[in-house]
Amino acid sequence: MTKILVIYASDYGNTEKMARAAAEGVEAVDGTTVTVKQAEEVTAGDWTTSDGVLLGSPVHMGSMDWRVKKMIDTVCSGLWMQDKMNGKVAGVFTSGGGFGNAGGGTELAMLAMLNNFAELGMLIVPLPKMTGDYKHGGLHWGPYGRSADSNMENVGVSEEALAVCRRHGTHLTRAAAAMQNRDIFAP
Ligand SMILES: Cc1cc2nc3c(=O)[nH]c(=O)nc-3n(C[C@H](O)[C@H](O)[C@H](O)COP(=O)(O)O)c2cc1C
Repeated sequence: MTKILVIYASDYGNTEKMARAAAEGVEAVDGTTVTVKQAEEVTAGDWTTSDGVLLGSPVHMGSMDWRVKKMIDTVCSGLWMQDKMNGKVAGVFTSGGGFGNAGGGTELAMLAMLNNFAELGMLIVPLPKMTGDYKHGGLHWGPYGRSADSNMENVGVSEEALAVCRRHGTHLTRAAAAMQNRDIFAP
């Protein structure tokens, strides 16, 4: 059994939709269980009992949501100190308004979260460009759902972006299954 934890923060529901789509992608793989939780609900036990973690955040001021960062600093710092997550797989996704038509800081938000995963010794699952609908909802780092149109009116994340989230969830789950119970790192 492969256990995947999907974590998100969301004010207006866009990142939550992406989290739910990613969870559907996880469930598409046989022999999998998925837990979907908001960042503020997550415990250290949720992390340590998982084989893989998918973390989603709205883009806030070109970085991750404060609730996600709070979880990193409070829940994950102990796991980092104790090397609890080494060798498990991890991936990210973001939702942003996209002001300026260049992602509005989404890459920075993704990279900040991926940096945290690297600190935790986790194996990062990227989003290859051959992934279906990548051109409508992807970056190399993970799925990106733009929630505003070019006039910055909120239109919500697209079905294509949600489809990319599903694929990302499936990819990460396959990676987690392949890496399960393997000792990769040695002191
Ligand atoms: C405090 C705050 C800061 C934001 N900063 C950015 C930003 O830097 N770049 C961006 O593209 N969108 C920004 N947004 C827009 C949100 O990222 C966007 O609306 C997102 O889809 C919200 O996700 P949610 O529905 O899951 O809350 C910001 C929104 C808020 C509330």
